[in-house]
Amino acid sequence: MSAALRYAPANCADGAILSAFARDSFCETFGHLYPDSDLRAFLEENYSPALQTAEIVDPDTEHRIAWRGAAISGFVKLGRERTGHALPGRFALELHRLYVTRTDQGAGVARTLMDWAMARARARGAVDMTLSVFSENHRAKRFYARYGFIEIAPYVFKVGSIEDADLIYRAALDA
Ligand SMILES: CC(C)(COP(=O)(O)OP(=O)(O)OC[C@H]1O[C@@H](n2cnc3c(N)ncnc32)[C@H](O)[C@@H]1OP(=O)(O)O)[C@@H](O)C(=O)NCCC(=O)NCCS
Repeated sequence: MSAALRYAPANCADGAILSAFARDSFCETFGHLYPDSDLRAFLEENYSPALQTAEIVDPDTEHRIAWRGAAISGFVKLGRERTGHALPGRFALELHRLYVTRTDQGAGVARTLMDWAMARARARGAVDMTLSVFSENHRAKRFYARYGFIEIAPYVFKVGSIEDADLIYRAALDA
């Protein structure tokens, strides 16, 4: 039987394990889309343990991790709005990442992490939340739609030589 779920903020000692989990999740979900060398370079640039640790200690960025015993089941990362699609006069934060391991998808882990992210964003004064999602990631798109996210604009997401069609989503937190 698997260990019970426990939710906690990330601390800098979690940088290495979170980096490994994020890389595995990215590869599990999107790895088939890219040539190996492009994928490896992208992961090194965006998911290294050093970068992950720096993001954990960045006061503008918050992570919440779902643990099963000593293993990560999922995590969410909330931070500065970087999509450029905040509305004038409305403070927005961005959902940078939300990953749940395949065996725990559909089990409410993503919902618990998302509920936390929305509550934290509201507590930090945000009235909108943005995110970007791969246009073919239908499961994630349905999940976000449940939270009131709507499509705002197309966005080109580059991994090496590959250009993916992503979408910017935004949800009102004060609706
Ligand atoms: C996206 C993610 C966080 C959603 O969490 P989840 O626990 O899987 O969410 P749910 O099981 O509630 O599924 C969301 C919706 O997709 C539907 N769904 C399930 N499997 C699906 C599939 N293979 N294709 C399309 N839709 C699917 C569910 O029925 C549900 O629809 P509903 O809201 O109409 O009931 C999780 O799947 C995940 O971590 N995926 C891998 C990483 C990822 O894609 N992250 C998002 C990057 S932007």
